[in-house]
Amino acid sequence: MSFYVTTPIYYVNAAPHLGHAYTTIAADVMARHHRQRGEEVFFLTGTDEHGEPVADAAHALGIEPQELADKNAERFKALAPRLDASNDFFIRTTDPEHEAVVQQVLSKVRENGFVYEGTYEGWYCPRCADFKADNEIDEGNRCPIHHVELTREQEDNYFFKLSAFQQRLEDLYAEREDFVAPRTRYNEALSFIRSGLRDVPLSRHKLTWGVKVPWDEQHVFYVWFDALLNYYSALSYAPEPGAPASGATPASAAPGASLTERMWPASYHLIGKDILRFHAVYWPALLMAAGLELPEHVFVHGFLLMDGEKMSKSLGNVLDPFAVIDRYGADALRFYLLRDVPFGQDGSVSTAAFELRYESELANDLGNLASRTIAMVHRYRDGVAAAVTLDGELEGEFGGLAGEVQWLMDRAELTGALELIWQRVRRLNRYVEERAPWRLAKDEASAQQLDVVLSSLVAGIRVVAVLLHPYLPTSTDKLLGALGVEGRSLALARWEATDALGCKLGQLEPLFPKSQ
Ligand code: MSP
Repeated sequence: MSFYVTTPIYYVNAAPHLGHAYTTIAADVMARHHRQRGEEVFFLTGTDEHGEPVADAAHALGIEPQELADKNAERFKALAPRLDASNDFFIRTTDPEHEAVVQQVLSKVRENGFVYEGTYEGWYCPRCADFKADNEIDEGNRCPIHHVELTREQEDNYFFKLSAFQQRLEDLYAEREDFVAPRTRYNEALSFIRSGLRDVPLSRHKLTWGVKVPWDEQHVFYVWFDALLNYYSALSYAPEPGAPASGATPASAAPGASLTERMWPASYHLIGKDILRFHAVYWPALLMAAGLELPEHVFVHGFLLMDGEKMSKSLGNVLDPFAVIDRYGADALRFYLLRDVPFGQDGSVSTAAFELRYESELANDLGNLASRTIAMVHRYRDGVAAAVTLDGELEGEFGGLAGEVQWLMDRAELTGALELIWQRVRRLNRYVEERAPWRLAKDEASAQQLDVVLSSLVAGIRVVAVLLHPYLPTSTDKLLGALGVEGRSLALARWEATDALGCKLGQLEPLFPKSQ
């Protein structure tokens, strides 16, 4: 089994903000979950460095695009580990290996008869790097996303024959209803297709900052085609996941097979809703034109909003993820974003809502549950949770939990899965209150009952901690470490006594200390 998940590659025209951190975190949760299943996982993120937005931003600063790209790519690269993202590779579209693959694949598309020369005229948003259809133009001839004035562009270009894929794309959507999710986004993409596909520019003549068109070096490829191909090109030159510097193949990998053979096509492309059309229409058509296999799923998340508007550098309403992490740690940020904003919908974010989730859920629900349980095992049982039969009352809620979480994860329902796990965290808190181990401890006749309660709590915490591991990698490592659980495999989320019972528990520092 292999699982290949991608984030969009981020424009390097500005520094990273929380909106960028969001997709990387979501992809990381999926990657970590699939590793827990024992699958071979490849998780890709990176930067989109060509095109007009980057060239314009560099010129405004009086520097070369490459200089700006180098500077900002470093900031995106630095963000990934701060988020605790376990990406296997970080692609930059200025990598020469990527550029070569772009030239090769698009030449193939031309050989296959899907490229021709023509003149394009239309309204263009330099920030989207995209031409706008008539029904996508806001009042005052402005971009509905960036609110900047559109420019009238006329240019001799090479065109991609998107219209040739009208029927094949309609068939794709009819045959694979889970190709795009959530359903509203599937419907949106399908209605765009049904409204009639027009050919799109494949190259830009006026720009020089891009991958050169090999059959006509006066042109560079339109940045979106260059960018989309990162998902494919990366596999041709990324080192083996988890490989030492020597590049040796890990034991789990099929011997001799390249990353492309093993990982292509992608299992999930995670994207924001503003780039739906590129991924749900252009991308499959491009792959068809090149004779390459299509991805399994495109999952579209919503926008993080601040004060009712999309958080974006150009609107100036951004939260700096580095600052949040400095104060609360990456786990808290990961948790907050996937808990408070239903994955797949828009949602507002604010410091007040963040602090509330931190205090009431991380510190109280989970942190206190873990520390008081471990403290009671130390106090009443000298640190050893007995290997007894677990409380049958909890079986129903914990027995099938891992399977339900897997089912949701297969559908990228990251908020739904987290909610399900959190219900069990709350159930364990109620269980502590109901059984009141401190009372049982006072009565020698209840000794066996006390063992069952404490061991069931330890087992329940193990189950939720294993399932929460993709969301909260650092704190669950501490917690599982204190419980004596080795490994992070999903098999450890079974509701049954394991080695963790009968062994001495460690000490646990507060997982989520009260903020200063
Ligand atoms: N470079 C293109 C993507 C090419 S993928 C082949 C691009 N870059 S971007 O930096 O502008 O945006 C990258 C991703 O960040 C997009 O999925 C976008 O939706 C997401 N976000 C940017 N701001 C966001 C929010 N405020 N909220 C959530 N995600 C948002 O588009």
